[in-house]
Amino acid sequence: METSALLRPGDVAEAVDGFLAASPAARAWDVETAFDWAAADAGLLTDGQRSAVRFVTLIEDHLPGYFDVYHRNFPVDDTVDPAVFTHNRELYHFTVRWAAEEDTHARALARYQEASGMAVRDELREELAVEGRKRFDLPYDHPVQFFTYALVQEKATQIYYQQLREVCGDPVLRAVLTRLSRDEARHFSFMADVVGRYLRAYGDTVAEPMRDVIAAFRMPLADTMRGYWRWALKIADVARYDHTDAYEHLIKVIDRAVDAPTRRIDELTAFISRCRALPA
Ligand SMILES: [Fe+2]
Ligand SMILES: [Fe+2]
Repeated sequence: METSALLRPGDVAEAVDGFLAASPAARAWDVETAFDWAAADAGLLTDGQRSAVRFVTLIEDHLPGYFDVYHRNFPVDDTVDPAVFTHNRELYHFTVRWAAEEDTHARALARYQEASGMAVRDELREELAVEGRKRFDLPYDHPVQFFTYALVQEKATQIYYQQLREVCGDPVLRAVLTRLSRDEARHFSFMADVVGRYLRAYGDTVAEPMRDVIAAFRMPLADTMRGYWRWALKIADVARYDHTDAYEHLIKVIDRAVDAPTRRIDELTAFISRCRALPA
């Protein structure tokens, strides 16, 4: 990334401080003690709900691939000059914490599958490896694009978990989804903070890169997972799964960050608005 397109390291540090302040250790949770695993029962779920759990387990389990995107695009080593390094080093305080949380999501969902009788651990591990080995990439060249993508993806995931929680029959799964959706909400807030800072620092010069993210948006693994679209449609019967539900939140972030919208900003928000799916 070019230094000229990055936030100042001090700006990143403020966003990271805000994220970590919103995630105190006292409110942290772990897979081992947060849930009554002995009570988990997949018999309380419909076929569709079990299918949704398998789907989101695969998505969360791809964490190594998502984490790697940050290492490749925001390296913390001597391949970047010191100015870029200081930016990337501040960002790393976020990504390493975020990655630990996402990895916990993957473990919580896998544990649910095992404890509820949906899956046998050894078989699940091998099933997850089929998708988990595949490379995940975000082909962006402007830094704001990574944060815009993550903003939409985190909010969409939060919304989906909340909707799935409302309909699912097992209280243990509902408890898991409550924890996960709260974490996704904090991840979204960090991304919203960062995107807002890009807009304030760079004004409408980030409008076009942001537009490109929305124009080509796919949820993680949509391009690599076998049977993704069929599966995504199937789980949408269980609870609405539509990443464009997150777009109104992106528009709010833009509105809040920009006091005097220019033509390019107006075009951006109008475009995002047009990309929203019609309500069912
Ligand atoms: Fe997650
Ligand atoms: Fe997340």
